[in-house]
Amino acid sequence: MKIIDLRSDTVTLPTPAMREAIHHAELGDDVYGEDPTTNHLQQVAAERFAKEAALLVPSGTMGNLICLLSHCARGDEVILGDQSHMFLNEAGGMSALGGIFPHIIPNQADGTMRLEDIEAAIRGDNVHFPRTRLICLENTHNRCNGSPLSSGYTESVATLARRHGLKVHLDGARIFNAAVALGVDVKQLTHSVDSLIFCLSKGLSAPVGSMVCGSREFIAEALRMRKVLGGGMRQTGIFAAAGTLALDQMVDRLADDHANARRLAEGIAQIPGLSIDPARIQTNILFFDLVTDRITAEEFITRLARKGIKCLHTGPSRFRIVTHYGVESEDIATTVSCMRQVMEE
Ligand SMILES: Cc1ncc(COP(=O)(O)O)c(C=O)c1O
Repeated sequence: MKIIDLRSDTVTLPTPAMREAIHHAELGDDVYGEDPTTNHLQQVAAERFAKEAALLVPSGTMGNLICLLSHCARGDEVILGDQSHMFLNEAGGMSALGGIFPHIIPNQADGTMRLEDIEAAIRGDNVHFPRTRLICLENTHNRCNGSPLSSGYTESVATLARRHGLKVHLDGARIFNAAVALGVDVKQLTHSVDSLIFCLSKGLSAPVGSMVCGSREFIAEALRMRKVLGGGMRQTGIFAAAGTLALDQMVDRLADDHANARRLAEGIAQIPGLSIDPARIQTNILFFDLVTDRITAEEFITRLARKGIKCLHTGPSRFRIVTHYGVESEDIATTVSCMRQVMEE
């Protein structure tokens, strides 16, 4: 039985071409800046985003934390969404390690924060207040059904930030999904932000790694913060080789994942007892709800797993599915049919 693992796009395995590139990668000590494969990846990433420089880091979580530590001092405040990965799923690193104060405002269903809410959250110069330094966006927005943020929206936030002397950081873990879904060059979604991260190890299928991109000065500080966090590695070309192929070969195919997610959403919408609005699904992430008491959420997930389908239980009666490389078009029909069987059993 084929296991169809829809819990996350982080379960993707490296492609045969990546395994080959890993085998032949030219290596050196990256802490001395001497790993040629890593240096090449960093140059390719910086060029792809038209930023001055880029830095390879072990994970998206460390990349976001490095950016926060590079932008902010202890006691500074960051404005971010209440549904953001940085607030909900990064172990409070900004406070635990950086003494940074999160100021949470509501994410709308499409992953945006209202401009008026952001502006109202910015503190004045007053000894009683923390200093607002940074606004963080997430594109695509994981918990908001993988919604892509438009370049227009990102630019409006950046304009607002500049008016108040603030910086903007983008958690672009899945920024290429946004670019493919919106049909724009990825630079259009990132040119107005001061720093960004993106992940090589999610939909792009590399085994390890995320990239931080920004100005030369910012990346020099990020390099220091990576060292502070113990993220200085050695022969990183082993996985940077796969990262370069991820950028070269794995971006355009994300459109297949989006089409599969949409088909899945349409299928789920037809199953009595399950609820989803397929119109919301624009990329590779979808959430759906169990809306019957004939079966518990635990029973649903367990019975589905027995049929070889894995999805993530994220709330009392809420589930997440993420499509990715390795999930084929026929797996979508199998998944919908297994869900129907589970609901009819
Ligand atoms: C939006 C978003 N940002 C950041 C991360 C963190 O990436 P990592 O798992 O590589 O730490 C994730 C991981 O799923 C994510 O979904």
